[in-house]
Amino acid sequence: MAQHFHVLHQDAGCRARTGLLRTPHGDIPTPIFMPVGTAATVKAMRPENLVEAGARIILANTYHLYLRPGHRLVEQMGGLHRFMAWDRPILTDSGGFQVFSLAELRTITEEGVSFRSHIDGSRHLLTPELSIAIQQALGADVIMCFDECPPAEAERSYVERSLALTTRWAARSKAALSRRDQLLFGIVQGGRFPELRRRSLEELREIGFDGYALGGLSVGEEKAVMHEVMDACSDLLPTDHPRYIMGIGTPEDLVEAVWHGYDMFDCVMPTRNARNGMLFSSQGRINIKRKEYEADQGPIDPACGCYVCRTYSRAYLRHLFRSGEILASMLNTHHNIAWYLNLMERIRAAIASNSFAAFRQSFYHQQTRTSE
Ligand code: GUN
Ligand code: ZN
Repeated sequence: MAQHFHVLHQDAGCRARTGLLRTPHGDIPTPIFMPVGTAATVKAMRPENLVEAGARIILANTYHLYLRPGHRLVEQMGGLHRFMAWDRPILTDSGGFQVFSLAELRTITEEGVSFRSHIDGSRHLLTPELSIAIQQALGADVIMCFDECPPAEAERSYVERSLALTTRWAARSKAALSRRDQLLFGIVQGGRFPELRRRSLEELREIGFDGYALGGLSVGEEKAVMHEVMDACSDLLPTDHPRYIMGIGTPEDLVEAVWHGYDMFDCVMPTRNARNGMLFSSQGRINIKRKEYEADQGPIDPACGCYVCRTYSRAYLRHLFRSGEILASMLNTHHNIAWYLNLMERIRAAIASNSFAAFRQSFYHQQTRTSE
């Protein structure tokens, strides 16, 4: 029985569950969404804005912080929480994804991944041991194994060899861990092949982790593939450990993943889209630069009680965005994060009353309106 995670309530009508994840910086209710703070900042948000928007835990990236400003510098400054003035929980990703999406001239060997920095072209070798050393120096509450994320179109034989490597790297990640206060999660790979996913998960369970994540999703595959993979892993995952799907997703993806029994999520969508003027609302997505909002006195979403919706009109937000004002990014990000976190709160309430299946149905009907 895991001491750091408890299922609070299992929905009677589906796999969705609520839980509590205990970390050194506080308890987190699940299902939870983690805003992305790649470079030790959730872009455009001060920590107090994050708290006001309801953030319970944020994500930061090993790859970026290792390259700049360097994990030893962050450690010297008192660790990541102190450095960025965020005293709630943090999860760091291992670099096993960013190194594949951002770095140049990568070579994968048994040892690790050698690559050139996307910032200054310098050469580096990232290994499971170095990834864990970086994550220990940063001091996040939850840290991730170093993994290989194969491209969506990779053929089966490649994915099979890749997941075996990810398993060996997971064992090395666990062996490299010397701090006892951080939770270490394993990452399931196996691409679009359900039986490879199950093999990956079985191998990780054999090693034993504090939580299990699904990686390699939302990399360009069809939605049906993503749902099939969620489904294939669902009943093999231990019920008393947290289950995290990395890098998803849209509000619809989150509802679907919760329905399949997953607990934790992260995605750049609410923050990145906010900076491009795309806002979430209970009636679907809004593109704030559209002419129709020119003299619209209403809030972004009448059903959202966030600071931005309580204070500003669509007309003002449209004006800020069209003028390229810094405040546009700040307010749009604030709303989108608050909106995502409020969605998670409504999801938890629906599970607690055994009505998540009904919530899921009505959610699909509501999210019909889109404006591009
Ligand atoms: N973030 C989104 N997908 C992945 C993945 O497959 N691996 C890691 N480490 N992070 C991710
Ligand atoms: Zn709002």
